[in-house]
Amino acid sequence: MSVIKIAILGFGTVGEGVYRIIHSHAAELKKVLGKKVEVTAILIKDQEKKRNISDDILITSDFEDIMKLDKLDVVIEAIVGKESPFLFLKKSIERKCHIITANKEMFAHHGEELQKLAEKNNVSVGFEATVAGGIPVIQTIRTLLKVNRVFQLQGILNGTSNFILTEMREKKQSFTEALLQAQENGYAEADPTNDVEGFDAFYKTMILCRIAFGEEPNWEEVQRQGITSITSELIAAAEKYGLRFKHFAQINRDGSEIIAVVKPVLVNQNHPFYHVEGVQNAVNVCSDIVGCITLQGPGAGMFPTSSAVIEDLVYVCQNQLSDITNSIGFVSDDKKTQGELEYWFVQGVGWKVPKGITIVDQTVEGIFILKAAKRDLEQLKNNKEVLCYPIVGEITINNFDSVTV
Ligand code: HSE
Repeated sequence: MSVIKIAILGFGTVGEGVYRIIHSHAAELKKVLGKKVEVTAILIKDQEKKRNISDDILITSDFEDIMKLDKLDVVIEAIVGKESPFLFLKKSIERKCHIITANKEMFAHHGEELQKLAEKNNVSVGFEATVAGGIPVIQTIRTLLKVNRVFQLQGILNGTSNFILTEMREKKQSFTEALLQAQENGYAEADPTNDVEGFDAFYKTMILCRIAFGEEPNWEEVQRQGITSITSELIAAAEKYGLRFKHFAQINRDGSEIIAVVKPVLVNQNHPFYHVEGVQNAVNVCSDIVGCITLQGPGAGMFPTSSAVIEDLVYVCQNQLSDITNSIGFVSDDKKTQGELEYWFVQGVGWKVPKGITIVDQTVEGIFILKAAKRDLEQLKNNKEVLCYPIVGEITINNFDSVTV
């Protein structure tokens, strides 16, 4: 019987998860692919570490050993870093292997080059696991893009940040305690700075841009902010207004321009992201025919991420991955301009605010709800002590009706 031979690069949370699923779901894989799937080699860093790996598998810390194997069909990459994994995957493609990656940072930087090289070598690239963990968002957008024109994407794309914000609110944990728990649960990156400073969500946002629109904004022009400025005090004050902090990514197409932001915002219970809690991620895709679709599911952790890799394994083996992207110009009518009035949750300003800014409410000492255009609010941001977070969707303020933002 013919066999699909696989190498797994890395045996951390994702690598081990993939290895375990290939064994636990061997029957399903064989049924759908008509062939047995066999792990032939695993690339590891530390030879001394004890691992539960079958004896007949090559375990090596030298990638070249893997390239010397007689037969190899698919290389699955789940290691940390940018340049070594890129080099390994380039070599794998040149050896005519399909490749699958879960590495967002590497793929945001080098994905385009890998895809072009794969096309030239007639192999496929799977990268579902790079965005939103177990949610099949890449495949959904690819499917939508066959005819629909996507004009906006919104997402909660970092499971660690959402988990920390939820734990801080629900269990009154400190930031440090919640981060430690996220690390213990296998949600956080090796360097959690990537999670809490918004880099991880930024890389995922850039990958989504390319899938949805066939291009990316200039990285330097994308506003990227993490969750480290959000204190327990701010979270408690937001709750009094029925608001929750969410780490939010948004991409809009405006004619030929792609505008993306990655930052914390506040939402109330009518927003689809209000109930997206813990390690859950969500992606809201708006396109012209179908309207808006929200996908929600586990955004990090061993099995959700490995699930995305395994589904990719089926797609690359069936050679179904195509490179369709939406490059048709489309103007979103849901984009705030610099002069449009918005509501903001602000800490660190006094009662006297500059012209053009209205104080709408103050329920908690030192924290205000302001109404202002983005360009007027910029005046406040010159003061480093001032923290401003936009409120998206709706907010209910005492003595005011519900305001749609
Ligand atoms: N550290 C990432 C997160 C893992 O928390 O979302 C999944 O990409």
